[in-house]
Amino acid sequence: MQLAQHYQSHINTLNQRVAEICAREGLSGLAIHSGQPHRQFLDDIDYPFKVNPHFKAWVPLLETPHCWLLVNGRDKPVLIFYRPEDFWHKVTDLPQSFWCDSFDIRILTKADKVADLLPVAEGRWAYIGEHLEVASVLGFNNCNPEAVMSYMHFYRACKTDYELECMRQANRIAVKGHRAAKNAFYSGASEFEIQQQYLSAIVQGENQVPYGNIIALNQNAAILHYTALEHESPQQRLSFLIDAGASFHGYAADISRTHAFEKNRFHDLIQAMNQLQLQLIEHLRPGKRYTELHLLAHQQLATLLLEAGLAKGSQETLLEQGITRAFFPHGLGHMLGLQVHDVGGFFNDERGTHVAPPEEHPFLRCTRTMAPGHVVTIEPGLYFIDSLLAPLKQDGRKALVDWDLIASLRPFGGIRIEDNVIIHAHGNENMTRESGLID
Ligand code: GLY
Ligand code: MN
Ligand code: MN
Repeated sequence: MQLAQHYQSHINTLNQRVAEICAREGLSGLAIHSGQPHRQFLDDIDYPFKVNPHFKAWVPLLETPHCWLLVNGRDKPVLIFYRPEDFWHKVTDLPQSFWCDSFDIRILTKADKVADLLPVAEGRWAYIGEHLEVASVLGFNNCNPEAVMSYMHFYRACKTDYELECMRQANRIAVKGHRAAKNAFYSGASEFEIQQQYLSAIVQGENQVPYGNIIALNQNAAILHYTALEHESPQQRLSFLIDAGASFHGYAADISRTHAFEKNRFHDLIQAMNQLQLQLIEHLRPGKRYTELHLLAHQQLATLLLEAGLAKGSQETLLEQGITRAFFPHGLGHMLGLQVHDVGGFFNDERGTHVAPPEEHPFLRCTRTMAPGHVVTIEPGLYFIDSLLAPLKQDGRKALVDWDLIASLRPFGGIRIEDNVIIHAHGNENMTRESGLID
């Protein structure tokens, strides 16, 4: 299997990064903690466990707390694998997988006995993880050093071949869900039922998908982070916006599509947005700053608004007067990987120098210069959001918008089309479309 072939080279790359940053910072190595369960207030039940992304970068073990990785970039990485004797809960079996040979695996049966296996006393090991109080008890006095975090976060944007293969697979899985969800929409399902059919098709539970799915019928599509799921089907079925992903070995897919129930003006707008989205992806290439692409999206959206008759005037006026921002208030996209909004989107260099988005575009999540191996989403949107459109009516901008047309499209909510794209040295790879999701 291709994944297994690429895995050791992935580990070698991570080891090189660790060797370099530990040498620079005078560290003996990194002790990376998978995490610990978080207990719900006044309860004896834990929240779903979410593993430390620095841990899952090395090993696709997503559900096992109290594990540790000891890495110094030189020796074979040590995996301290937690396997308690417990008849109450399911215990993760001893791993037998393609990745095992890359580690020296040691078993831990009692979480509080980990000190016996950690090299804290033998030099300057840094703790990488969330539980600073645990680190302190264990004797670490250097936790998540900023130079290490910035370095690792900067290079994490450049995916290894193993990671790219995981992300292609996450896309293939999510595409199955999107097909099932689209069928469910045209068959009359409620938001809740569409969600169930999506999850069934990808065979992942609500706690396994990388983020809370957005399944929005009709005007709910105008609520950008709509995660409520209505159980009732609406009386009239107009539109469906779905933003739903899937995970594979800890890597995320993040895909959006919008569907019109009938062939109408909203349907034409979806097609125009689809063309706009594909054109933007054509502009993505190494050396391009993501911010430029976001600004280009606004220029193209201005043209689209004029052609669709939603706005009047010139492209320049619509941009200057903030009309496009009222219809498209979020960022064009973000880096994607171990986290949906992956780290490092604002970094200019390995020290983590921050590049802020333009003042008028505060929600843009990526300002970084693109390079081969980067994976980003491209997700332009066009919404009819009352609270953003209302201010346009209050001043001279009123004449720039066709309010009757907006009133007729308002019940459709909005449109977002989102693909996951790998930037290669020569050409882009649109993983979402190449997995067969065309519309
Ligand atoms: N699903 C979250 C996003 O598109 O950024
Ligand atoms: Mn999304
Ligand atoms: Mn996204």
